[in-house]
Amino acid sequence: MNLLVIVASTRPGRIGDQVGRWVADHAAKTTDFEIRIADLIDFNLPLFDEPGHPRMGSYTKEHTKAWSKAVDAADAFIIVTPEYNYTMPPSLVNAIDYLHHEWAYKPAAFVGYGGASGGFRAIQTARLLISNLKVMPLPAMVALAGVYASSPDAKIAIDEIYNDQADAMLVELKLWAEALQTIRTKKK
Ligand SMILES: Cc1cc2nc3c(=O)[nH]c(=O)nc-3n(C[C@H](O)[C@H](O)[C@H](O)COP(=O)(O)O)c2cc1C
Repeated sequence: MNLLVIVASTRPGRIGDQVGRWVADHAAKTTDFEIRIADLIDFNLPLFDEPGHPRMGSYTKEHTKAWSKAVDAADAFIIVTPEYNYTMPPSLVNAIDYLHHEWAYKPAAFVGYGGASGGFRAIQTARLLISNLKVMPLPAMVALAGVYASSPDAKIAIDEIYNDQADAMLVELKLWAEALQTIRTKKK
């Protein structure tokens, strides 16, 4: 089973890449998922620029084709998102909007981070958006509260308690990934 860890923040000086690596490393130690990280900074998606509705899958741009291939290959997602102004960052909205069938009948777990909320409101809004694409957003999540880098190059410290939350989330993610694979097989 392929797990795609999506890093949503593309901000210079972001901590999202470190959070993504933390959860990917943890999943590699504790699960048998095949894990890939999809860092949105690497996909360099402009604001949605395909002429057709993503439902048609008739992509004209190389960046869309590369993003489609990465999402299509996944059986499950962990979406690593910061909270910006009580919601998810526009980079994540844009990346979700780019595709359609690639998302369907797959589970998504969320790792949020931000101030006191731990990115909770960003997760809630992302769940609403992604469920429209037939993604199953899991109740189990990790909301990292008060995780900051002291300077742009500094390492973040992630409390041990979040490893336990990640474990519980990953158990759920595997169960849903197996269950939803059955639906995708029936749909073919
Ligand atoms: C434009 C902007 C808006 C933000 N709004 C919120 C917010 O509403 N709630 C919150 O908890 N943190 C907020 N923050 C703090 C970020 O969640 C925090 O800086 C986090 O590290 C950003 O993720 P990144 O470093 O991976 O980009 C905001 C940060 C930015 C840049």
